[in-house]
Amino acid sequence: MEIFLNMSNETNSQKDIKLPSIPDAVRECLSQMYSSEADISKLASLAQKDAGITSSILKLANSTLYSMGQPTSDLKVGVTRIGLSSLMQILIKYSIEKLFEFDAIDFFNVKSFTKHCSWVSQIAFELGKLVNTAQLSDLLVAGLLHDVGLLVRAISDKALMKQITERCLRDKIDFNTAEKNLKLESHEILGEILLEKWQLPASVILIIKYHHTEESFRPKKLTSEQNKAINLISLSDTIAHRFGNAFTNYTRDTRVNTVELDKLGINSQDVAKVVKQATQQLQFF
Ligand SMILES: [Fe+2]
Repeated sequence: MEIFLNMSNETNSQKDIKLPSIPDAVRECLSQMYSSEADISKLASLAQKDAGITSSILKLANSTLYSMGQPTSDLKVGVTRIGLSSLMQILIKYSIEKLFEFDAIDFFNVKSFTKHCSWVSQIAFELGKLVNTAQLSDLLVAGLLHDVGLLVRAISDKALMKQITERCLRDKIDFNTAEKNLKLESHEILGEILLEKWQLPASVILIIKYHHTEESFRPKKLTSEQNKAINLISLSDTIAHRFGNAFTNYTRDTRVNTVELDKLGINSQDVAKVVKQATQQLQFF
């Protein structure tokens, strides 16, 4: 079932926004992720329904990272080896690719999109561990879905998305700047609207809503932990773009701000380590 939200009173988005329903696998992943007793076999049975998901899990489980020299073709063994966070990343990636099917709009396509989001998720998760954040699950999920507003626009109003991609190409600017220059609703807000409908945790929606908003422009009521989680996603987004894990011919600022790193208590060696680890892990996705 799809619902259509009339956005005609909001800024200058005159068209109805098409909001798809949450895929079962995403709903189940979230409920397992946020439950005190995660039941990994439930997720394994969801994974089993899809050949692509199954083969991704087994590929990762049989990689040098997880196999310990013992190959397996048993999905349950595979799932246990790779763990809940990797399983969730694989399940959500595939669900999003299936849900948002559209022909490429210039450089913007769903495969490059999910690849980038997996990177942001993995880097944020690892950096979150380094800085001892209590919001590890939020970072994992927010990383996977931070730019979902772009997909909402791509399936709701392809012509408008094309205007944005053309503006990005012509002026060598990023999505966020192009949306601003065209005086459009930002993909941060479109993401928030979709994820509220999907009933994601408020802590995840908050990160996504402000992932391009500098701390000084965010509401003053946000706690330092909330701002830290947003800053971690924003930093991970920049790092993922810096190491080429996004769209071909897409231009954006990929400078990592050392002041931001210092504020988070991360150094450049930490970043290098996390990038190396993410590269090893994500080659199997
Ligand atoms: Fe974004």
